[in-house]
Amino acid sequence: MDVFGGLCRTFLILLVVFYFAFIFLSKKAPLSTKTETLSSPTNLSHLVFGLVGSEKAWHHRKAYIESWWRPNITRGFLFLDKPPTGDLLPWSHASPSYKISDDLTKFINKKDVTAQRIIHSIMEVYREDHENLRWLVMGDDDSIFFVDNMVDVLAQYDHTKYYYFGGHSEFILSNYWYSFSQGFGGAGFILSYPLAKVLAGDMENCMNRYRHLNAADLTTMACISDIGVSLTALKGIHQIDLRGDISCFLSSHPKFPLMSLHHFDVVEPIFPSMDRSDSTPHLMKAAAVDQSRMLQQTIYYQRQSNWSFSISWGYSVHVYEKIMPRSYLQYPIETFRTWQRSRRPPHYMFNTRLPSSNPCEAPHIFFYETIKKTPENEILTSFSRAWPRGLPACSSSGNDSADSISRILVHSPARKRFQVSIHEFYSSNF
Ligand SMILES: *[C@@H]1O[C@H](CO)[C@@H](O)[C@H](O)[C@H]1NC(C)=O
Ligand SMILES: *[C@@H]1O[C@H](CO)[C@@H](O)[C@H](O)[C@H]1NC(C)=O
Ligand SMILES: *[C@@H]1O[C@H](CO)[C@@H](O)[C@H](O)[C@H]1NC(C)=O
Ligand SMILES: *[C@@H]1O[C@H](CO)[C@@H](O)[C@H](O)[C@H]1NC(C)=O
Repeated sequence: MDVFGGLCRTFLILLVVFYFAFIFLSKKAPLSTKTETLSSPTNLSHLVFGLVGSEKAWHHRKAYIESWWRPNITRGFLFLDKPPTGDLLPWSHASPSYKISDDLTKFINKKDVTAQRIIHSIMEVYREDHENLRWLVMGDDDSIFFVDNMVDVLAQYDHTKYYYFGGHSEFILSNYWYSFSQGFGGAGFILSYPLAKVLAGDMENCMNRYRHLNAADLTTMACISDIGVSLTALKGIHQIDLRGDISCFLSSHPKFPLMSLHHFDVVEPIFPSMDRSDSTPHLMKAAAVDQSRMLQQTIYYQRQSNWSFSISWGYSVHVYEKIMPRSYLQYPIETFRTWQRSRRPPHYMFNTRLPSSNPCEAPHIFFYETIKKTPENEILTSFSRAWPRGLPACSSSGNDSADSISRILVHSPARKRFQVSIHEFYSSNF
């Protein structure tokens, strides 16, 4: 079927929304709390990554890391429990180089040392490569990192001070069971140089002190806490302790650069028309064009038809046949489930909306399909309808059905989204 014309009434909607959303921000003066002027701006070469995985899982998880790893550019290592075998040889050039973790069985005196191996790798990555290191970034073998955004965020902090960045679990009880004070490991956590150095130097003592703990990220927090540093949680770091369909979670991202995603093995494929192995590279194609706008939620109203558009850049567009306040659209529709059983709310670290079959509440859903640069030096992203909504029009707002929209095009400027400073994010959010 020709989507651009023909018998059925088909609309093509062009949205030029990203120009509006950030103008007021760009007028603000730069903040005085800038990093020290003596050192050069932070770039990717100052970040060293330590990823911890197992030989067994790497066979299917390497695709997650290869989707963001930049050979010969990103620095760091993958730590494996034993040497790679079978289809992992010869070792892929698109993967980080690997190291076999130090043998800790004698030191710990037990067979399963997985948790200790993860903690100890902080010291091992520091030991292997810390020249001009500013930020040590730790992750799992299924952590998906957005490294340009990481650089942009970290460049706003002074790497010569003590910082421990990470993310909470989305699932409230995980924070309660482990700790609200820890950065969850799979989401990735980031240590500034002096903190990484002190922690690496104190590693044996740390592991001795907390022998009784068997979660790596909890032990890490405990040792960092002993050094006198506490977690700074960043809104772009995501553990994804969720199950099922997380598409609506990804469609209501706060205005903060997306830094990580995780658990793509566990959740349903994030694009409903694709399987897991195609979904991640598809998302990364949009990220390759502009990481700064990835998943940033922009809300736009079309008053003539009483429609609201909620755009998650590079991922989805939701169309409502009613004017919905931004304060409401910032809550994700709860299409996902909790990580573990949770008897009663609150389940999540954020508010949600329940899915609805009320035509005034239920969105028409579109997913990112293609992205390209135009000759006018804009980025054009197209989104196609996921499925027919199968509901009548919303009557209270004028009966104007959006059923006939099959595709939505979003224009954005071919330059980075203006980076406001971290402090301004807190004061101007939403
Ligand atoms: C990153 O910064 C260093 C200085 O600290 C500089 O030598 C290097 O060229 C920069 N790299 C890139 C890719 O800009
Ligand atoms: C990385 O560098 C090595 C040696 O410096 C080179 O042989 C290899 O082709 C490079 N790989 C890529 C993907 O650029
Ligand atoms: C928009 O919705 C309001 C009620 O919310 C209604 O009064 C108005 O007529 C609608 N406008 C159009 C153009 O349908
Ligand atoms: C929408 O259509 C219904 C049924 O045809 C009608 O009762 C209602 O008044 C219409 N709403 C508006 C706002 O026009």
